[in-house]
Amino acid sequence: MRIGILGSGLMGGKLGTIFARAGHDVIFSYSRSEKKLERLAREAGSGKRQAGRGARAGTPAEAARDADALLLAVHWSRLDDVLKKAGDLSGKVIITCSLPMNDDDTGLVIGLTSSGAEELAKKVPKARIVSAFNTLPSEVFFAVFENRGRGNPPQCVYCGDDTKAKAVAARLIGDVGFEPIDAGPLRIARYTEPFTLLVGQLAYEGDRGPAMAYRFEWFEERG
Ligand SMILES: NC(=O)c1ccc[n+]([C@@H]2O[C@H](COP(=O)([O-])OP(=O)(O)OC[C@H]3O[C@@H](n4cnc5c(N)ncnc54)[C@H](OP(=O)(O)O)[C@@H]3O)[C@@H](O)[C@H]2O)c1
Repeated sequence: MRIGILGSGLMGGKLGTIFARAGHDVIFSYSRSEKKLERLAREAGSGKRQAGRGARAGTPAEAARDADALLLAVHWSRLDDVLKKAGDLSGKVIITCSLPMNDDDTGLVIGLTSSGAEELAKKVPKARIVSAFNTLPSEVFFAVFENRGRGNPPQCVYCGDDTKAKAVAARLIGDVGFEPIDAGPLRIARYTEPFTLLVGQLAYEGDRGPAMAYRFEWFEERG
């Protein structure tokens, strides 16, 4: 797939690198440093496991133009700016990992009756939005990718209203090494977004480090 990365920081930089190493064609965009985008592109293409296609740096509009999927990975305060720079996103699959956090990242600014993903969908009503990867700390992605295929993978919940877009997201989640868990329609982001604050608490305030993920288990009901 051709994947455009809108926001090439901790999330976009790492996931874009993994997507490229999994064989996708990636364009990194939306950093304040053009040099950083070029370095990301160079390094994404140089991993031992790189399956061949490649990565390059570009503008948000270039990242969006021919993309089969876009990863939206910006701070909530940058949302309008990056959407404006990306241009017409009609029909595009947008996988958002962006959380509606306040400026100092201490709390959600949207919740209970809506979610960041739903507010994004209102801003780009013709795009196909999936919420994914937002429930995991960026520090775990490379470890999960290195461990993929070794059984009992960690999971990544995702939600959205567009079946085709969800299939694209599920494939990319699987490419990183997670088991994709379909949590339902986009409004379920009202639950997944605050769940991330729990994950963040465990990752950043716990004593076992931030490279953590989760796995739900289902049992046969008894009694
Ligand atoms: N980090 C995590 O573990 C994590 C986990 C779950 C969800 N999320 C969510 O994912 C989204 C991205 O998080 P992140 O940690 O990847 O953020 P980040 O590291 O700050 O990356 C944001 C990207 O946006 C770029 N950007 C472009 N113009 C900017 C401007 N004027 N001001 C600030 N940034 C600008 C940054 O540029 P530079 O390259 O110049 O910095 C960077 O590439 C957020 O909504 C966050 O809440 C993050």
